[in-house]
Amino acid sequence: MRTELSFSPLSGIETELLVVTAADAQTAKGPDARPQPVLLTDDEVVKTAAAAVLAGGEFKAGANETLLLHAPAGLKARRLLMVGLGKQEKIKPASVRNAAGTAVRFTKPRGIRELVLALPEAEALPGAACARAAVEGACVGDFDPDTYRSDRKDQSVQSFTVAVPASAERTAVEAAFAEGMIVGESQNFTRSLVNEPGNKLTPTVLGERAAAMAAAVGLNCEVYSTEKLHELKMGAFWSVSQGSAEPPALIVLRYEPEGVTEGPVLGLVGKGITFDTGGISIKPSDNMEKMKYDMAGGAAMIGAMRAIALLQPRVRVIGIVCAAENMPDGKAQKPGDVQTAMSGKTIEIINTDAEGRLVLADGLAYARQLGATHLIDAATLTGACVVALGMVNAGAFSNDDVTYAKFDAALAVSGEKFWRLPLGEEYADMIKSDIGDIKNTGGRWGGAITAAEFLHHFAEDTPWIHLDIAGVAWVEEARPYIAKGPSGIGVRSILEWVRSF
Ligand code: BES
Ligand code: MN
Ligand code: ZN
Repeated sequence: MRTELSFSPLSGIETELLVVTAADAQTAKGPDARPQPVLLTDDEVVKTAAAAVLAGGEFKAGANETLLLHAPAGLKARRLLMVGLGKQEKIKPASVRNAAGTAVRFTKPRGIRELVLALPEAEALPGAACARAAVEGACVGDFDPDTYRSDRKDQSVQSFTVAVPASAERTAVEAAFAEGMIVGESQNFTRSLVNEPGNKLTPTVLGERAAAMAAAVGLNCEVYSTEKLHELKMGAFWSVSQGSAEPPALIVLRYEPEGVTEGPVLGLVGKGITFDTGGISIKPSDNMEKMKYDMAGGAAMIGAMRAIALLQPRVRVIGIVCAAENMPDGKAQKPGDVQTAMSGKTIEIINTDAEGRLVLADGLAYARQLGATHLIDAATLTGACVVALGMVNAGAFSNDDVTYAKFDAALAVSGEKFWRLPLGEEYADMIKSDIGDIKNTGGRWGGAITAAEFLHHFAEDTPWIHLDIAGVAWVEEARPYIAKGPSGIGVRSILEWVRSF
């Protein structure tokens, strides 16, 4: 997708499709209240072209609602698409992100390959933030997961232009726009990894993909396997891989900006289970195919590292992905086995399906050994988190309020939804083992929290954030602005968190 900025008046832009946004400005309440759509542009020609249909009442400017006009009077554009942002008092740059995605997904099945989106003009919508959000949303909307369909027609949008109103600050918009492109493409890079089936994307292949990306953007990347796991005494990580014919991959990405030798070192640790059968505690076969996305946390870290390499914040970052395949086999670990983690702690395996925390335990310990002063991990860790928060919010946990506050601020920029859940000693008590230091499950209740407490044992007192993205890494039902399939959740928020240091 080619992207461009245009500073011309809207009426003079020649395009297949001009997109303008609208908000519902209804203020009155009660039975007589009617939606009141208003176009968010000061362009009189566009307003006139849309006036009749707006007065007609069929378009209410609800979030991601669309209405198409052909041959709009007075415009050089062949079509005019209105996209709703929802209630005026609630609109924010995230609404524009979704509207841009909606516009792109509107064009794709209709064979329209080129569109121009007019940046909204409204007080709540600063030009730069919206330009960034628009191009992010367009990238995200352009992604479809049908890569292995033999009749796949490349329906990608060829050209996406953002038309900037005269009132906007030009240089700020230009910078934000370039940023949005990097962020959107990085999120899609993550999605393309998550989309791959387990037979195509083994731990080894995930390592190769990360290495190729690293070479392209100038990151340092090392990919290790079984031998290194033994050398580092990563008994927890290795125990998950031992039942698979596919060797594990320990992927280490490093971003070291020139001249930065002091200050924090951020450790990004991702769960990279390329397929999770559950192991000997095997999962039911219904929906097991979904477990190809059990590497979404690792893929989020790889995508975030890509964006970091291109946006160059002044902080050192280490990305670690613990990739393995969780399989039942004669060599697989068994319930009751005791494993010794890299930190020296012993873990009683109660359920081999609680494997994510095992690989992360050693990933977190390794990040600390490499000098990380702050940690963030992402994982499709627990079904319990999906029970708690549904497929709307991802779970977030932290042992440090200051570090979490930075993440909370990052969410306002990223527009991603995370909800903080508690940690606590009572939960930590639930995973004490009779035979060793801890056990890898704590029973049914509070399962997302006991999993987080398990990780807490290995993050120890290093400021740390844990993101449980099990419920939101896969979009189960297509939305107007995003296809069904991998969401790429986490990339944007983790990136913003890194940039806040
Ligand atoms: N990968 C799963 C968690 C998961 C569930 C991801 C649903 C995406 C959607 C994880 O490895 C797992 O199996 N967790 C178990 C833990 C249990 C055995 C304590 C779970 O949640 O059931
Ligand atoms: Mn599992
Ligand atoms: Zn898993």
